[in-house]
Amino acid sequence: MTRKKETILLCVSGGIAAFKAAALTSKLAQQGFDVHVLMTENAQRFVTPLTFQALSRNAVHTDTFDEPDSTSIAHIDLADRADLVIVAPATANVIGKLANGIADDVVSTTILATKAPVWVAPAMNVNMYNHPAVQNNLEQLRRMNVKLLEPGEGLLACGWIGKGRLAEPEVIADAVLRHFEAGKDQPLRGQKFLVTAGPTQEKIDPVRYFSNHSSGKMGYALAKAAAARGAEVTLVSGPSELPPPAGVKVVRVTSAAEMYEQVVERFAAQDAVIKAAAVADYRPKRTFSEKFKKGGGEWVVEMERTQDILAELGARKKDQVLVGFAAETNDVQRHASEKLRKKNLDFIVVNDISQQGSGFRTDTNQVTVVSREGEAAQWPLLSKDEVAERIVDEVYERLKRRRSK
Ligand code: PMT
Repeated sequence: MTRKKETILLCVSGGIAAFKAAALTSKLAQQGFDVHVLMTENAQRFVTPLTFQALSRNAVHTDTFDEPDSTSIAHIDLADRADLVIVAPATANVIGKLANGIADDVVSTTILATKAPVWVAPAMNVNMYNHPAVQNNLEQLRRMNVKLLEPGEGLLACGWIGKGRLAEPEVIADAVLRHFEAGKDQPLRGQKFLVTAGPTQEKIDPVRYFSNHSSGKMGYALAKAAAARGAEVTLVSGPSELPPPAGVKVVRVTSAAEMYEQVVERFAAQDAVIKAAAVADYRPKRTFSEKFKKGGGEWVVEMERTQDILAELGARKKDQVLVGFAAETNDVQRHASEKLRKKNLDFIVVNDISQQGSGFRTDTNQVTVVSREGEAAQWPLLSKDEVAERIVDEVYERLKRRRSK
């Protein structure tokens, strides 16, 4: 193995999916990582520590008070050495502890003590997963910048069908490789990316506007992924409550016209533009400076077209990589291919917003990527962070090909 041995702490909690953690240990060790497994008491009811010891070639940690070396405190030492901590499978119980700062075993104390990034891969019964207590705890973990690896859907060990299967070991191992490759080489250093996110608001009067359901999650995840790979990122964002991603310049706009101005003015200087914003296609023809008073009858608001920002970029494009999004409900691929051609895009990311877990406001997205070369790749349901990482990697490949011509 030639890679520097990054240290990964794999925390296994007590669910049937603990057996998949053995496969994950094996994959990570084969990829050259220094894997240290920590197990909760219940995890040891499913798989023995010896299995993980044999696969990782490292001692397995099961007890906070097991201190074989008197010169250091074992769990603090582990927490300090970690480059990445993964909890897989993460039960409802361990998720609850992490979200609330409870530290009562080797897994929870070590995670509380680490400064390394923490990834959590939930696995449990679908009803437990959907329980508001668990969902609130997951939301709290997101706010704490913990990366969640989305569970899959299907037949669960408990016999229920639904969401709750641990993400596959190959998917987790692939995400780990991407994480370290992006962080190490910063392949996009020196590249300028512009990302748009969120909705636009089209004013009617001082209290009313037309808008849509976009939260900004997809666009903010893209900005974060590009910045993590070293790009200089400008995020032109419509109204969104999300915190600005670290290391990204945020330009706030409200209307489609303002977004047009901010994006078009910056376009010539960019290497890549990704337009995840849901821009209004129409705005009121007339706006009122005072509140429009209701009368007895109907109120007809006449609408006019906004400018299509992406089409304008497509017309001005030199050698930038230009990526569009399409939110569709029917005939998804056909509509997307038309937009790709009309707007002169390199590829278009299509989300079928009629699908559960896809499109507006969700933390996940299931997308099909249609390229100008005519290829269409359907990706599985992934977290928006993972979709963003893959899109940015695809842009990187195109920039690399362009440079080598
Ligand atoms: O923000 P989230 O809650 O995470 O939701 C994510 C999302 C669903 C908003 C995102 O994944 C998405 O699909 N964004 C594009 C939605 C959209 O407006 O699609 P569209 O088919 O109407 O537009 C196609 C493309 O043209 C988009 O890239 C859009 O940014 C662009 N466009 C559209 C109209 C316009 N006047 N100017 C534009 O540039």
